[in-house]
Amino acid sequence: MTRMKGTAKTVNDTGNSSMVRARDLCKHYGKDAGLVRAVDHVDLDVAPGQTLAIMGPSGCGKSTLLHLLGGLDRPSAGELWLAGQRLDQMSERGMAALRRDAVGFVFQAFHLMDELTAVENVELPLLLAGRSARNSRRRAIDLLEQVGLADRARHLPSQLSGGQRQRAAIARALANEPLVVLADEPTGNLDSEATLEVLRLLDSLHQAGQTVVIVTHDSRIAATADRLISMRDGVFVDDTRLTGGTAGELGALAGLTTLDD
Ligand SMILES: Nc1ncnc2c1ncn2[C@@H]1O[C@H](COP(=O)(O)OP(=O)(O)OP(=O)(O)O)[C@@H](O)[C@H]1O
Ligand SMILES: [Mg+2]
Repeated sequence: MTRMKGTAKTVNDTGNSSMVRARDLCKHYGKDAGLVRAVDHVDLDVAPGQTLAIMGPSGCGKSTLLHLLGGLDRPSAGELWLAGQRLDQMSERGMAALRRDAVGFVFQAFHLMDELTAVENVELPLLLAGRSARNSRRRAIDLLEQVGLADRARHLPSQLSGGQRQRAAIARALANEPLVVLADEPTGNLDSEATLEVLRLLDSLHQAGQTVVIVTHDSRIAATADRLISMRDGVFVDDTRLTGGTAGELGALAGLTTLDD
């Protein structure tokens, strides 16, 4: 295994090219009559650069699965790799480094730090990863520019619209150049215009070759993915390749290819 940078990022040289790989992955809560099989013997391979959308009814295990993939939670059983690194056997320390360096999380409720400005929120993971203050600030400003928020850098989250907050959260998720971006209902709290902004941004990540897994109830978001998995009761019930991608009809359906583009 070859170390890339930081402590948790490595390039896969285990003979498997998946960015995310799960075998027989389980997360069970409770026991006996109270047993919940939130994730139940799931096998998954996500190729580098793939955008995968996961849909399914409330309670089917989408968030639980995403938390496992990002090292926020540990599986009850099964095997899990991120870029060839085994997660299910990793130490707490290793997991913390992995969450910081190799995974970018985007949540429905943004989870920005209220008392920090947009630029401070984005630079925080850079500082935590050991970058200099100057370097971190420069990169944070670049990232805010990338998500169209350069003029809001010094605003507090409370001074930003929902869509702007989510774009700041996406900039933060990208700070340490994650191997994978995991987004849980990223547009769940947004109106349709802000949803479109976030949709475009996620699409630009896709175009740039970022590996992305998005849990969503929004079929427009799902339609921009390369692949759509439907989940029910902790298992995958359907796995479809979406060949059109954002360049084709599906992208048009999602409103990504409008005349003013
Ligand atoms: N800490 C926990 N203890 C016990 N059961 C849990 C726990 N966390 C989740 N569950 C259960 O696991 C199942 C899957 O939950 P999960 O949050 O992954 O669903 P979801 O698909 O993300 O739903 P939603 O669309 O509503 O966000 C649910 O039945 C839930 O009640
Ligand atoms: Mg959920």
